[in-house]
Amino acid sequence: MSSSFHFLFTLPLWLSLILHSTTTTVSQTTAIAPAPPGPTNITKILEKSGQYTILLHLFHMTQIGDQINTQLNNSDQGVTVFAPTDNAFSALKSGSLNSLSDQEKVELVQFHVVPMFLSTSQFQTISNPLRTQAGDTARYKFPLNITTSGNQVNISTGVVDTTVANTIYSDGSLAVYQVDKVLLPMSMFGPPAPAPVPEKESKKSKADAGDDSPASDVGSSNADASGVGSLDRNLYGFVLGVTETIAFIGMFYL
Ligand SMILES: *[C@@H]1O[C@H](CO)[C@@H](O)[C@H](O)[C@H]1NC(C)=O
Ligand SMILES: *[C@@H]1O[C@H](CO)[C@@H](O)[C@H](O)[C@H]1NC(C)=O
Ligand SMILES: *[C@@H]1O[C@H](CO)[C@@H](O)[C@H](O)[C@H]1NC(C)=O
Ligand SMILES: *[C@@H]1O[C@H](CO)[C@@H](O)[C@H](O)[C@H]1NC(C)=O
Repeated sequence: MSSSFHFLFTLPLWLSLILHSTTTTVSQTTAIAPAPPGPTNITKILEKSGQYTILLHLFHMTQIGDQINTQLNNSDQGVTVFAPTDNAFSALKSGSLNSLSDQEKVELVQFHVVPMFLSTSQFQTISNPLRTQAGDTARYKFPLNITTSGNQVNISTGVVDTTVANTIYSDGSLAVYQVDKVLLPMSMFGPPAPAPVPEKESKKSKADAGDDSPASDVGSSNADASGVGSLDRNLYGFVLGVTETIAFIGMFYL
């Protein structure tokens, strides 16, 4: 009984304390001009460049974008990404991507990621074949050779020859280089290894795989996005509501 009276009497005091701390927080926030830079984010870097929507889609679908961010945060080896442009993907024979299984899509993307930072000058002294995130560098698996002549950096997969077209980003930990061709690995696009290969490993199964996976991927990513969106909206609405209530009560008190 007495405690609730006590509460009623001190209510204005509480409100003024809340109001005061709210306004203080707001003015402090506006005083700090530049937002903290945050961790390196491969998605953000590629989004800014504007011509990597297909690679970004693949990064999202295979979750390799998140993996790269985690790797950057957790190891001091750094990461190098060879980023094919949308034009590079468009130049592929039609159906090249759709005929790949989900696992092969993961490997294709991993083939463009090297688990260490490589500056342009480090390309001069690289030892071939270079190990990518796709692993096995054997001749019919995922070999990647890099050679240089002057400032030109050549990349060869055994199926595709191309050059580094541009440095998109480099900070000593992450390097992102533009390539104008998709780096097609021998394991998926080269001639089959001459060693005895079981019959079911032949091209036929790939051609028949068809386009089943993309649809389900799109569906699940949409579901994720809307879930997060509504959570954000709810939180935003709640914060707005609380702020308005405090302001309204505060008007009468002051
Ligand atoms: C990276 O950026 C993208 C979009 O710019 C964002 O959706 C994602 O949450 C960010 N990831 C991290 C780890 O900050
Ligand atoms: C980065 O790593 C630290 C610990 O190593 C962890 O606490 C933090 O959550 C990580 N941040 C991101 C964005 O992954
Ligand atoms: C790089 O590739 C070009 C053709 O694109 C070729 O003429 C040149 O010899 C290659 N250089 C090296 C060092 O591999
Ligand atoms: C890559 O380099 C290795 C070692 O020099 C060589 O044996 C191999 O044939 C090269 N492969 C390609 C595809 O250039």
